Amino acid sequence: MKHVVLLALLVGTTLVADVENGKAVFAANCATCHTVNGGNALGPDMNIVSYTRRKAEIEAYAKDPYSLAKTFGYSANAMPTLPLEDQEFKDVADYIDSLQPFKKWMKKK
Ligand code: HEC
Repeated sequence: MKHVVLLALLVGTTLVADVENGKAVFAANCATCHTVNGGNALGPDMNIVSYTRRKAEIEAYAKDPYSLAKTFGYSANAMPTLPLEDQEFKDVADYIDSLQPFKKWMKKK
C-alpha cells in the first residue's frame, strides 16, 4: 500500500513538472501569437484549442505546422516551425491540454 501511495506521488509530481515547464515554454515561444482566455492574436486562443484538439494533435501541430495546416482546416500556414526540443513540444502540449480538464467528456482520448 505504501508503494502505491509513493508511486502516485511520484507520477503526480512528474505531471505537474511537465505542465509547469510547458507553461514556461509557452510564455517564451507561443504567447506572442496565441492567447489563453481570449484576446487578439494571430493564432487561435489556446483555451479553444484545448477543447477541440487532443494532446497528440497539439504536439504534432506545434512541431510541424507547415505540413499539418491543410489537415487542420487552414487554407494557408502562418505559424513558423519552431526549433524546440522534443521534450519542450511534449511539455507545451501537456500545458495546453491541461487548460480544459473537462474535455475528456467531450471527445475520446
Ligand atoms: C508567429 C506566430 C506563432 C507562433 C510563435 C506560434 N504560433 Fe501556433 N499558430 C499560429 C497561427 C497563425 C496558427 C493558425 C494556423 C497556421 O497559420 O499555421 C497557429 C496554429 C496553432 C495550432 C493549431 C490550432 C488548431 O486547433 O487549429 C496549434 C496547436 C499551435 N498553433 C500551437 C502553437 C504552440 C504550442 C506554439 C509555441 C511552441 C505556437 N503555436 C507558436 C501562429 C503562431
